[in-house]
Amino acid sequence: MVFAEALVPFQSGWPHVHHLFGLLCLVAVVYKLFIALRKRRDAIRDFSAFTGPPGHWLLGHVMDFKQDGTDLDKLVKWGKQYPYAFPLMFGPVVCFLNIHHPDYVKTILASTEPKDDFAYKFIESWIGEGLLVSKGQKWFRHRRLLTPGFHYDVLKPYVKLMSDSAKTMLDKWESHANTSNSFELFEHVSLMTLDSIMKCAFSYNSNCQTESGTNAYIKAVYELSDLINLRFRTFPYHNDLIFYLSPHGFRYRKACKVAHSHTEEVIRKRKAALKAEKELDHIQAKRHLDFLDILLFARDEKQQGLSDEDIRAEVDTFMFEGHDTTASGISFILYCMACHPEHQKICREEIIQALDGKDTMEWLAYMLKTSQQLVCVTLRLSI
Ligand code: HEM
Repeated sequence: MVFAEALVPFQSGWPHVHHLFGLLCLVAVVYKLFIALRKRRDAIRDFSAFTGPPGHWLLGHVMDFKQDGTDLDKLVKWGKQYPYAFPLMFGPVVCFLNIHHPDYVKTILASTEPKDDFAYKFIESWIGEGLLVSKGQKWFRHRRLLTPGFHYDVLKPYVKLMSDSAKTMLDKWESHANTSNSFELFEHVSLMTLDSIMKCAFSYNSNCQTESGTNAYIKAVYELSDLINLRFRTFPYHNDLIFYLSPHGFRYRKACKVAHSHTEEVIRKRKAALKAEKELDHIQAKRHLDFLDILLFARDEKQQGLSDEDIRAEVDTFMFEGHDTTASGISFILYCMACHPEHQKICREEIIQALDGKDTMEWLAYMLKTSQQLVCVTLRLSI
């Protein structure tokens, strides 16, 4: 009896709490909607000087990208149809100006600011605030601390590691060539670049090229790359709450956990192994330095190093930035060479001459003038 009486004020209070909660949710939704509509209005106004392909009123141009191998052709077609630049909408709010005229591209490439807040928001929970995402003072400090990582002496031993990875890939291709069946080249190149970056960034031999699909970390990296791509194209997933509560968001968090615990484990083990070493020179005398060594030894003018979180962010950033970009670049170069056998022939002859009977590349870039030019031109075309 006493208990029931005590419950009365709470019971009568419940509807009020519900109402209040409902009202707060409504205000939040209206506010978000208002911000979204304002963003849409601003984007349409800002890009009104540029005509572009017509899009769906809600989905924009998302459905035009079918991921069936024709997407790039479509962009080329639009590039011819709409001079200089054309806007594309991804969902009702997100609008990109697709710039393709060299004069416009030059202006953008010459500036370092601002960073792409929208797209980077989707990867930050995986790669943290590394060089790619960070800005201002934090970016500046990290950029300076990481500069030794790009020194010629540090990069040189990477050539052997990369060439070993490329050899593994070519061996696989040789067995494919014997069957005369066609196969998707990008997958192979992507595994090769991931293999290379793992060896160079933290001396990790994953055997991912020969045992793809079995390594939990490799699987997590691919899962994360796919889900980020999917999130970008699915506009309700642009909202954190909707994405993280969805099955895809659940998979994303799970893959993030796998990737992070792997990186943390590698950092922990290396820290333990480096305990006795005080100087990078001592390590370099025994073995080649990798990117993780540089990160762990980096010190600013106050002798402050990077925090564990910062180190993890930089390693994860390089893992992401370092493999997918190069895989796309290399695949596109191979495609262009296949389309232009006359240039392919010149490059082949130049490389055979530079190899001078050996089967491995060392630091030969300066001898490969035409091949280097071809790589540069193709990368420019791929932008
Ligand atoms: C063909 C290959 C590559 C292309 C086309 C490419 C493209 C780019 C572009 C366009 C940016 C600027 C992004 C922005 O300002 O928002 C960038 C930044 C960056 N890339 Fe790459 N990248 C390639 C290879 C690599 C590799 C191999 C690595 C690492 C091993 C790497 C690491 C980074 C990092 C750390 C940043 C951020 C730099 C900073 O803000 O200081 N990239 N990349």
